[in-house]
Amino acid sequence: MRPDAMEEFGSGIQQAVLAGGSASGRLAEDVRWGLSQPRKQLHSQYLYDSLGSRLFEAICALPEYRVTQAEQKLLDRYSNLIVSDLEGPVTLVELGPGSGEKLAQLIEPLLRNNIGVNVELVDISEAALDLATRTLTRFPSVPVFCHEAVYLDGLQRSIKRRHDAGSLLVAFLGSSLGNFAPSSAHTFLSNIQTVLRAGDRFLLGLDLVKPEQELTLAYDDPLGVTAAFNRNILVRLNRELAADFDLEWFGHRVIWNFASSSIEMYLESLCEQKVSIPGADCQIRFKEGEYIWTESSYKYTTSQIVSAGMESGFATRGQWVDEEVKFAVTAFEVL
Ligand code: AVJ
Repeated sequence: MRPDAMEEFGSGIQQAVLAGGSASGRLAEDVRWGLSQPRKQLHSQYLYDSLGSRLFEAICALPEYRVTQAEQKLLDRYSNLIVSDLEGPVTLVELGPGSGEKLAQLIEPLLRNNIGVNVELVDISEAALDLATRTLTRFPSVPVFCHEAVYLDGLQRSIKRRHDAGSLLVAFLGSSLGNFAPSSAHTFLSNIQTVLRAGDRFLLGLDLVKPEQELTLAYDDPLGVTAAFNRNILVRLNRELAADFDLEWFGHRVIWNFASSSIEMYLESLCEQKVSIPGADCQIRFKEGEYIWTESSYKYTTSQIVSAGMESGFATRGQWVDEEVKFAVTAFEVL
């Protein structure tokens, strides 16, 4: 997952994540690499340990972070239409399923029409997979299979398990694509298109460009949940790499990068300090005011989403927009 900035830095980490292998085995290596760059960075993938995934679920419930509510509302209204012409049995693959609630909204209209459904969930976090699986137990007739893997690996494994007849829909919701820099997003979409076959569907939920004030409030909420989510990455390094980050001396910072249309999240060192990370075999010096870049979240326009899909070989079947929150769900089909 990530950014412009990440690209400037040379996206060694991203490649590793997308290429797969052990999702967690590279932590030490990635941390040592990221914190020794001229602009320090930690890959946003590492925000999602078990507490991080729960904090993110809490973010989704914040009134200031309207992504989840807007998407739920759109699916509530249009899931019927979105799945209306899928032939059974339907394989639903979700990349990064979160709570599983959004997938549930796609399953309901299918079951109502007596169409058989099986689900494949892909996530690097076991905690996230558990949560979604628990939600889907409300559909006893729907088999759920979990892939603890990076997106493309998991998708490929899911596809191997598909029915020969029937249809396949891949859902990539919650604005997760926003974590990729535009050029990586394009590569990612093309890779997805390549592993799918003609007639397969791809459902993409993406947050849209909106006024800066709304964006910064969504990523720097007054309750401090997003700050906790961000700083938890240091808690994780303290635990897993025996690091000695002093949480009191790192602050949550959010910047809207107008030029690249992305919200950037950082941890700011509030004093000059030295941190040792024995598990990554390094010691890192921080200047007062120095930033660690932890995440970028790119915001799109509706037409950019359609073009991105088309350039990756998809045809657009429909786009549904929450004009108030500014959020879009777009349905693509492989030609
Ligand atoms: C899960 C990547 C879509 O960028 O909006 C939310 C993560 N970070 N608040 C996003 C996030 C801070 C979220 N994504």
